[in-house]
Amino acid sequence: MSDSLTIAIDGSAASGKSTLGWALAKKLNYLYLDTGVMYRAVTWAALHHHIDPHDEAAVTALAEKISLQILPPTKNDGRQATVLVDGTDITWEIRTPKVDANVSLVSSYPGVRRVLTEQQREIAAHGAVVMVGRDIGTVVLPHADLKLFIEASVEVRARRRYNERIARGEQADFDALLASMIRRDKLDREKPISPMIPADDAIIINTNNLSQEEVVARVLALVNEKMAQKKVAHGSR
Ligand code: DC
Repeated sequence: MSDSLTIAIDGSAASGKSTLGWALAKKLNYLYLDTGVMYRAVTWAALHHHIDPHDEAAVTALAEKISLQILPPTKNDGRQATVLVDGTDITWEIRTPKVDANVSLVSSYPGVRRVLTEQQREIAAHGAVVMVGRDIGTVVLPHADLKLFIEASVEVRARRRYNERIARGEQADFDALLASMIRRDKLDREKPISPMIPADDAIIINTNNLSQEEVVARVLALVNEKMAQKKVAHGSR
């Protein structure tokens, strides 16, 4: 049996969980999957096909029908993955304010979650994976070896999103971003299925006053600890 780990990272928007997950996967040579892109891709597809995001049945049928592929980056433009829907590269289209405004609603539909959760479990089946989202430790991979829940204040997170947009040369309005994030946090926390809550056995890390490097270093120490425990457990059998 392999000593590689299955790592679940959950947390709110712009908490730093994707940056952490990406850095960790690179260092460990693990597969990286940010599951948020899958909910965003379904939302983008609904808008693209002029399906009303409030039409749960139509959005769910669409999620079942589309071909969703998350590939390693195919371009060197800052992307962490290439996202294809029915063969079209929508990596950056899923980051627009229109998708931001509708993705919480789409991700609240049980049918959409069922389709995407199944795909996520298949992707994680071979281990050596870092999976990032809201419900990875609680629902998607309840037996993950290491579960992390990443937190930061809403002001810090809105500032990070603002800086990212400005760095990409896009327009950004801090107050609008803050308001949208407060709204999305509430929806994510209060959704009746798979709400954003830490798993009982998750380790909570607050990144308000930590640099990205400090967060990665802290988590790598936890990973090494888990790997050592797993080795001992295998060796003693
Ligand atoms: O992490 P993100 O902002 O890209 O996520 C987009 C939306 O998808 C967010 O509103 C929460 C939702 N989501 C979810 O419900 N479950 C996941 N595992 C990942 C994201």
